[in-house]
Amino acid sequence: MKALVTGANKGIGFEIARSLGKRGYDILVGARDEARGQATVEKLAAEDISATFINIDLNNFDSLHAAANMVNSLDILVNNAGIPDSVKPGRAALDLAKLTFDYTTEDLRTTMETNFLGTHELIKSLLSSLTDNAKIVNITVPISPTDFWHPLAYITSKAALNVMTLTYAYEFEKMGSHRQIFGIMPGAVATDLNGMEAGAHGGFVKSPEAAGQMSTDIILSDKNQNGQIIQYDGKIVTDYEIQLRG
Ligand SMILES: NC(=O)c1ccc[n+]([C@@H]2O[C@H](COP(=O)([O-])OP(=O)(O)OC[C@H]3O[C@@H](n4cnc5c(N)ncnc54)[C@H](OP(=O)(O)O)[C@@H]3O)[C@@H](O)[C@H]2O)c1
Repeated sequence: MKALVTGANKGIGFEIARSLGKRGYDILVGARDEARGQATVEKLAAEDISATFINIDLNNFDSLHAAANMVNSLDILVNNAGIPDSVKPGRAALDLAKLTFDYTTEDLRTTMETNFLGTHELIKSLLSSLTDNAKIVNITVPISPTDFWHPLAYITSKAALNVMTLTYAYEFEKMGSHRQIFGIMPGAVATDLNGMEAGAHGGFVKSPEAAGQMSTDIILSDKNQNGQIIQYDGKIVTDYEIQLRG
């Protein structure tokens, strides 16, 4: 059994890769930087996990097409790689205080290109490499604005990703395919993306390890989850309409 995790070199992606690897999957470590990807392969191998680096840069479609040409019989694709805004390498970019008015077109374009267009291109490129019962998993976030949660670039790109999840699910169902596509919302997780610490906000912020295990439990569920958006506690989100939640 084989799983490809994008952005597997750190954060939630690394822990999903590790958790799937511990449950017997051969892991394709998707990373945009070869050195970081190979270092991850070595870390996983030290835990007796079978892992191979594969170059996945969501901003470079050639890398996605080349990766698709190298992959076959893929059972699980986890679309984890993502950014919260026009990110500068090496620093967290999720700025929850940033006003909607302060987002630039460049912020929106960069985030949309990575989280939505790159992910779409990867899924499309890998369709012929998936097994008949393959699962495609999109890691996502809540999209309705609240007092503390209204990062325009991030939630706009994830809203587009969620629509894609549903439209692919519709097509799979309509054609009688046994493939599934679903979203997982891990909740707040302490990673470089937000610079938070595990246990912060009264324990609300999870460790990447907890998020990885929780996501893996959902991914490996026997249930048909096609078209679902599933929260970290296993709850299926049924009120996923965009609305002001002030
Ligand atoms: N942290 C949270 O609270 C939280 C909550 C809900 C959902 N999520 C989602 O979880 C996913 C992982 O986030 P994280 O928190 O683990 O963040 P992270 O630690 O910053 O990891 C992000 C990963 O995505 C990769 N990446 C970024 N841009 C890429 C590109 N253009 N091509 C390929 N890979 C790229 C990064 O690679 P480099 O190391 O090369 O930069 C890194 O491996 C994201 O989709 C995020 O939206 C996070």
